[in-house]
Amino acid sequence: MRRIAILTSGGDAPGMNTAIRAAVKMAQYKGMEVYGIRRGYHGMLMDEIFLIDSRFLSGIIEKGGTALLTARCPEFKDPKYRAIAAENLKRRGIEGLIVIGGDGSYRGADLLSKEHGIKVVGLPGTIDNDIIGTDYTIGFDTCLNTILDAISKLRDTATSHERTILVEVMGRRAGDLAVHSCICGGGDGILIPEVENSIEMLAFQIKQRRNTGRLHDIVLVAEGVGNIFDVEKELKEKVTTEVRTVILGHIQRGGTPSGRDRMLATQMAVKAVELLEAGEGGVMVGVERGDVVTHPISYAWEGTKRNNILDLYRIADIFSR
Ligand code: ADP
Ligand code: F6P
Repeated sequence: MRRIAILTSGGDAPGMNTAIRAAVKMAQYKGMEVYGIRRGYHGMLMDEIFLIDSRFLSGIIEKGGTALLTARCPEFKDPKYRAIAAENLKRRGIEGLIVIGGDGSYRGADLLSKEHGIKVVGLPGTIDNDIIGTDYTIGFDTCLNTILDAISKLRDTATSHERTILVEVMGRRAGDLAVHSCICGGGDGILIPEVENSIEMLAFQIKQRRNTGRLHDIVLVAEGVGNIFDVEKELKEKVTTEVRTVILGHIQRGGTPSGRDRMLATQMAVKAVELLEAGEGGVMVGVERGDVVTHPISYAWEGTKRNNILDLYRIADIFSR
């Protein structure tokens, strides 16, 4: 395979640029050409496709976001539009595609492959860490560090005012960011969508903390739990401390990628190029227990074994008391 393309799709994540750079550098080393597709599947459909050169890669290793831009493209669910998009690739002699995104993006890639014979490789790029088949996704570690920085700052003011602060973190339906940031940031309470949450129990914990002299409470709330202002309202009825709510929001999606994310992105991108060079497709790349692994791309939505989030939740829960 001499010509491949690469795109980023769905929510952006720090480290996507590092993955793009690594894929292009490795492909160029192997004598392959790499085309960039702007704005994910939207750009594939609208023919926003260009040959990536060294100038495009310059400096992007350390930039958050994605230099290829990203978009959501509902039309791609329609086979008629996928056919137009595939034709834009074939006209240029592009035979392989690297898709950096989440499982929705993988589904699009899988259909493109089955219907039009383009070889596809998926790389997990999302801050949410919600993709089956890899221990960590590209962007998760940077996002975790952003949250930890926020927790430190919030703890300062929470202590001065002896307040309880509910901190909503992202993750769509997954509690990974909340669990990891609770453990690493010394959180004092945690609510995630994967378990039954009890505000009664949280209120009890807060009262106990105050009885033992603690001056603040930082409670990590995963966005997937539901409306945080409902949580705030219910908690306020049960505790006497002042409660404030902070929604960290899209700050969590930006920033220079951590060393760990850059390494993960690089390892995965190199593997993707090696697979396409060998004519292999229909797979997703992950890193499990330190090893770079592949799974059929459908594993992302058909697989059942996700990471050890519930084990970690138990630790977060115990340590937050
Ligand atoms: P993520 O990749 O982060 O899960 P989305 O679910 O928003 O993000 O999917 C990103 C894009 O992937 C969608 O805008 C669409 O273009 C494409 N996509 C998602 N699901 C499908 C599907 N079932 N069939 C075809 N394309 C899809
Ligand atoms: O999937 C990444 C993510 O940041 C989720 O954590 C969040 O629920 C969602 O995207 C936000 O999407 P948008 O950028 O469309 O507001």
